Amino acid sequence: MTPSLTVVGSINMDLVTSTERVPNQGETVLGYDFATYPGGKGANQAVSASRLGAKTNMIGAVGSDAFGQELTETLRENGVVTENVKPVTDIPSGTATIILSDGDNRIIVNPGANHSVTPDYIESCAEVLRSSNVVLMQLEIPLETVEKAAKLAKEGGATVILNPAPIQALPKSLLQWVDIVTPNESEAKTLLNHSPQPILEDKLMITKGSEGVLFYENGKERHIPAYHVEPVDTTGAGDAFNGALAFKLSEGCTKQEAISYANAVAALSVLKSGAQTGLPTQAEVQVFLEHQGEQT
Ligand code: RIB
Ligand code: NA
Repeated sequence: MTPSLTVVGSINMDLVTSTERVPNQGETVLGYDFATYPGGKGANQAVSASRLGAKTNMIGAVGSDAFGQELTETLRENGVVTENVKPVTDIPSGTATIILSDGDNRIIVNPGANHSVTPDYIESCAEVLRSSNVVLMQLEIPLETVEKAAKLAKEGGATVILNPAPIQALPKSLLQWVDIVTPNESEAKTLLNHSPQPILEDKLMITKGSEGVLFYENGKERHIPAYHVEPVDTTGAGDAFNGALAFKLSEGCTKQEAISYANAVAALSVLKSGAQTGLPTQAEVQVFLEHQGEQT
């Protein structure tokens, strides 16, 4: 079957304020910039895969508001199939309030419509899941929905990837359907403390930012280095990685090849402000990799 990738997850509008200093409780400071950017871990990962050329379906929900329209439109403009992005009434679109300061971000996510991505809704999208060869998820929608989607996808023969962000304990009933889990370093610590370790370990790919990625193959730990760049905005770098990883695995690449490529996509993604703005096309990745080759 032709490779087809499905992302089940969140769609948010990112409300980004830049400030020299983060205010203390009860204090007001003047910021120096404000912008809105399409975001949400699910949508970011879908756009990452789609820009690289993957046939990408998104399953998710937005509010019947201006943000919802813009978010759906942005997905479409990026080539993502939005037949299963449902507008819901009486609930606002998901938002992420992001404070950028000193090269770092603080984020508050209000799930809003993302809460409406229920197991029942997933049931109605079963065909899409069954016909996908890779299904990619995060934890900004209800956990029981993630479990349901993972089960349907796995039964249909897909490779199931879970980016466990924001982190929470993962039950065995979910992990049994998941092939690859992609935490960052701190998420990995939480996971290893709270999840059934033997089931988890050979599924792990731990992203360590500028230190690259750790994964396990035949019980052995392996390391793939990152590409070094001067970041402008690291918001969504993990999403860039996950979308690219899913794309490469859907094309039948090895884990090592897929990780190395996804590291390049993540590096390019942080060169522009906004979670989706810097996501590269396949041609842009190729130019970047050729240039890296010349430097070494
Ligand atoms: O991973 C980055 C994303 O997390 C942002 O786009 C924001 O919407 C939050 O969901
Ligand atoms: Na970016």
